[in-house]
Formats: sequence, C-alpha cells, structure tokens
Amino acid sequence: MSPFFELNTGAKITSVGLGTWRADHGLIGDALATAIKVGYRHIDCAQLYENEEEIGFALKKIFEDGIVKREDLWITSKLWCSDHSPEDVPKALDRTLRNLQLDYLDLYLIHWPVSLKRGSIGFKPEYLTQPDIPSTWRAMEMLYDSGKARAIGVSNFSTKKLGDLLKVARVPPAVNQVECHPSWQQPQLHSFCKSNGVHLSAYAPMGSPGGTSGKSRQLLKDPVLNMIAEKLGKSPAQVALRWGLQMGHSVLPKSTNEGRLKENFDVFDWSIPEDLFAKFSEIEQVRLVKGSNFVHETFGVYRSLEELWDGEI
Ligand code: A2P
Repeated sequence: MSPFFELNTGAKITSVGLGTWRADHGLIGDALATAIKVGYRHIDCAQLYENEEEIGFALKKIFEDGIVKREDLWITSKLWCSDHSPEDVPKALDRTLRNLQLDYLDLYLIHWPVSLKRGSIGFKPEYLTQPDIPSTWRAMEMLYDSGKARAIGVSNFSTKKLGDLLKVARVPPAVNQVECHPSWQQPQLHSFCKSNGVHLSAYAPMGSPGGTSGKSRQLLKDPVLNMIAEKLGKSPAQVALRWGLQMGHSVLPKSTNEGRLKENFDVFDWSIPEDLFAKFSEIEQVRLVKGSNFVHETFGVYRSLEELWDGEI
C-alpha cells in the first residue's frame, strides 16, 4: 500500500497517484479499475482533461462492486482558467462533482495562475484576461468551508506567485502541483514549499515520455538515470518516481497500460541510497511544460515566459 504525506490540513495524501491527462477516452475507465486493483488510491483529474465523466462512471462501478469505498480514495480535480470569476468557481466544482459522480473532492486546485474569458474553449491569445488570484482564492476558501473540497491548493504557481497567495490567504494552499522530475527539479520552489508547509505534488514525474515536445522523450534515456537504474535493478521510470518520493513529493504518473501501472507502483520497498541520490544533481535541467499558450506580447497579462514563471524557466 502506498504511504502518505501529511498536508497542512492534517489530511494524508497518498504518495503515488494516477495521472489522467492525455488518458484516451475508452481507456481511462478500464485503466482506473486496473489501477485500483494494483493498489492505487489517489486519482488526479481535471476538468480540462475532458474525461471526468468517464472516470465518474468507472468510480461508480468500483464503489457499487464494493472494491473500495469513497473514503479509501484520494481524488483531486482542478478549476479551469475560464472559471476564475468568484461566482463561477462553485459552479465549476459542482460540474466536476456531477461528472465524477461524487459529493466531495479531497483536493481542488486552481489549475493555472492564468485567466481566460468565461465560456472560452481553447487557447486563443484574445481569450486571456487579467487574473485576480486573491478573489478566485476567496471563492476556493468558501468551497473548503462548505466541505465540498476538503483541501484546496494551486497548480503551476511559481515561488513568487505562491508567496503572494500565502500573504493574502485565510486558508493557506495545501498543495502546489507542478511539473517536477529529475530533469526539472525545481530546487527553489521545493525549499519554499517545504518551509511554508505547502506540499509539492509532481506532475509529469517521469518527464512525460509520451509528450510531444522533442525534449519529452529524453529523461528516461538520461545516462545518469540509467546508470542508477542499472545499479538498483529497477527501470529508469521507477527511479524517477522514487526520486520524487524521497524528495517528499507525491508523484502522479499517468499510464493506461497494466504492466506500466504495476511498474510505476512498485516503488515502496526499496530506496535510492545517498551516494546515488547525490548523482541527480548532474542531470541537465529543462522545463517541459512551458505554458506558451498563456503568454502573448500584445494580449497577454504575462508577456513572456519569464513573467509567467517569474524567472523560473
Ligand atoms: P502509457 O499510458 O501508454 O503507459 P508522465 O506521467 O511523466 O507525464 O508520463 C506519462 C507517459 O509515460 C504516458 O505516455 C505513458 O504511456 C508513459 N509511461 C507511463 N509509465 C511508463 C513507464 N513505466 N515507462 C515508460 N513510459 C511510461
């Protein structure tokens, strides 16, 4: 069974979660059932992924068949950028809960520190609007008060943006979910989260091997990672995930393949020894998920990637 990390709410988040981004329709329902059988108890969803309805049907069946109970699972979802207006935030959560066929989430995140026009679909630059994170956050806090979101947090926030939010938050964010893996280690954000009691949850924890960017395919081929994997008799993917766990991050590997679901969950009864752990500092650092769609010289509130990430690029 997967161990936990404790959040600033006192809740325990299961350390390995199933990522569902780019999980194709028709596959994610079966993958979820398989994952639960393998032992996964944490599912990372988002309205943007357009598969919450399918996940909801799969969850309903899993509960009806008595395989696990709702309270055995940790379920996260995320508020999309076109729902940042305070009056839209509760409606967006209700829509997600309806689709997932749930009455509460364990964690609800602001997906990006970026706002898009209400009702917009896709990423045209003219859809970008001025984000007002403090107002959106107050609406998130009300969802926390109502119990519909048992913890609230953010995603894709730089150290600076997270710090700005912490200054105004009544309920501090419990989690910042960001890209994090051995080839994008985020040391500054890691330390800031740690010293402020914000749990860092890692998406693309294997460097997104199925990603479309040229760089995406590289982490699992990295010579340092492969050397460590060989020494430990593990796969490069397992070593990348184990690195995340030993850093104190929950990790959200996505797979719809039974063999890889098992492989990615087999990361608890061994560890990377200190001498090999030190070698991770030799791995070249590259941010894969840049958020280029959210940056525009004329229309953008963030005119450059530097501004979106406050220099962490
Ligand atoms: P698949 O769903 O066919 O297994 P990340 O979570 O870092 O974004 O990576 C997700 C991608 O990595 C998916 O394309 C997934 O494909 C693939 N993947 C998942 N597990 C492994 C693994 N153990 N080894 C190699 N590729 C993997």
